[in-house]
Amino acid sequence: MLKEAASLIMKHTVTSRRHLTPELALRLITPECPLWRATEDQIPFKDPFWAFYWPGGQATARFILDNGDQFKNNSILDVGCGCGAGSIAAAKVGAKRVVANDIDHFAATATKINAELNDVTVETSKKNLIGDSCKEFDIILIGDMFYNEEFASLLFEWLHRLSTEDGKTVLIGDPGRHGLTTTRRQQMSLAARYVLPAHICMENHGFTHADVWILNK
Ligand SMILES: C[S@@+](CC[C@H](N)C(=O)[O-])C[C@H]1O[C@@H](n2cnc3c(N)ncnc32)[C@H](O)[C@@H]1O
Repeated sequence: MLKEAASLIMKHTVTSRRHLTPELALRLITPECPLWRATEDQIPFKDPFWAFYWPGGQATARFILDNGDQFKNNSILDVGCGCGAGSIAAAKVGAKRVVANDIDHFAATATKINAELNDVTVETSKKNLIGDSCKEFDIILIGDMFYNEEFASLLFEWLHRLSTEDGKTVLIGDPGRHGLTTTRRQQMSLAARYVLPAHICMENHGFTHADVWILNK
């Protein structure tokens, strides 16, 4: 874990359980933190997505904790792990191997800090794995990554191939972002829907629920 990155994360975040998975303690930027209201030039991180627990990620982690048997003894890759909650949930329910992947090095460090907080071990990777064959993994987790149309199209094409050609189980947590178009939804099955109470999900930006989808094989 990079010492400087870790101390910056600890300085600017607090431990929070105010989300859909209160059994997980996570270091996050919450309304109690000065950075919650800071302007872009006051923030010592570029796009600190890892400091928020996105509704799609909350739904994915909730689903894992509630359906542990589907993840136990499997190898899991959490792409765009952010704070690492999906990976930590998978480790908690007894996954054989968990790799938390994010191209932002702060996300990798935040995930390590959060894993330690929750007494689990997860591996981290900072490679851009979009397009990779993911040979070592059974299950791919995607928490809230359909917020940009151009990226959504690249991401979905890859995930669809992993699912239909390689038989991987692909789980997508999403609160209804525009990147998950109707055509894309028609190629997935709804596994769970969670209500997002405003008082526990500060990052919902008006979303009322978050879904967990599984790509059809
Ligand atoms: C909206 S956040 C979601 C984080 C987390 N999954 C959650 O739901 O709380 C999206 C994350 O994807 C990461 N990301 C963007 N492009 C990526 C890529 N090509 N490979 C891995 N991570 C990526 C970002 O750095 C960011 O942490």
